[in-house]
Amino acid sequence: FENGLGQTPPMGWNSWNHFGCDINESLIRETADAMVSTGLAALGYKYINLDDCWAELNRDCKGNMVPNASTFPSGIKALAHYVHRKGLKLGIYSDAGNQTCSKRMPGSLGHEEQDAKTFASWGVDYLKYDNCENNGINVKIRYPPMSEALLKTGRPIFFSMCEWGWEDPATWARSVGNSWRTTGDIEDNWISMTSIADANDRWASYAGPGGWNDPDMLEVGNGGMTTEEYRAHFSIWALAKAPLLVGCDIRAMDNTTYELLSNPEVIAVNQDKLGVQGKKVQPNNNDGLEVWAGPLHGNKVAVVLWNRSSSNATVTASWSDIGLEPGTVVHARDLWEHSTQTLVSGEISAELDSHACKMYVLTPRKC
Ligand code: GLA
Repeated sequence: FENGLGQTPPMGWNSWNHFGCDINESLIRETADAMVSTGLAALGYKYINLDDCWAELNRDCKGNMVPNASTFPSGIKALAHYVHRKGLKLGIYSDAGNQTCSKRMPGSLGHEEQDAKTFASWGVDYLKYDNCENNGINVKIRYPPMSEALLKTGRPIFFSMCEWGWEDPATWARSVGNSWRTTGDIEDNWISMTSIADANDRWASYAGPGGWNDPDMLEVGNGGMTTEEYRAHFSIWALAKAPLLVGCDIRAMDNTTYELLSNPEVIAVNQDKLGVQGKKVQPNNNDGLEVWAGPLHGNKVAVVLWNRSSSNATVTASWSDIGLEPGTVVHARDLWEHSTQTLVSGEISAELDSHACKMYVLTPRKC
């Protein structure tokens, strides 16, 4: 998709996972404020994305979408201005159908050019484009018109295709959008998060600068998983070059949530310029002990050791699992402990509590 955006996975926040339809302009402004005041913006989280329910149910007499008069009385242009003044970007949401999934606002099917123009005139920087109420028309027919309409506006607008993995988008969506959902909606629990991680992993080879697999937004901080489960969620999403779209109320994050979301070394893996999606390299032989890994620029390797079993266990990755020559001596940086050790043994190993992970960057030692 020739808009030049998404050279690394997008980072930001989206309203849906925590707030659903209960959104309004002060929430969005306060979220933008919090993004900056917490330091998350400086770490790379720049998109503030509205999800469903920002518009009136009906278009106006000219056929334009209009912001909901009671929840967004100042309009989206003013909101974009506010967000831009903070050094951030504004995202909006529509649907390749007659209505959005909430059925509380119109979709853009048949109005692609008009709506793209409206969004561009408001200063919108990102469009999440959903898949409900679609008249049974194939996704490959419904998504390209919006993609073309966005390009035609001349404004760089990140195009996030939310078609839930229908029609295997990884195989064709790179020319249409900057990211594509590979699965249905995430829920704030272990089973949902792990099964989505696996389903998304299948498409790893299709991700790269300009176009990313999207295993859906982060649930970190929403309360349905333990700290170690959220640490694994964030680590695997970072390794898999997933969009890092925070889905909690960042105005009221606890310290643990902040510690997870703000780890600069984990974020650096996600934003690595090589842009290769890390994947599961040691499969789950039904024992739940997994190794996920992927290359980084400069011959480095990112590794996650993950204990998905229900009891404590030792997880080990050998160099042959993760693409290092046997005998390579590495400096192993533990991204959560912030400590470094030198390894000569040809493997890396950790004792892990149930559902816990460790994440490392391995740098081969130069002679
Ligand atoms: C779909 C999407 C979600 C969210 C809701 C909004 O389910 O997959 O991410 O946007 O619609 O209604």
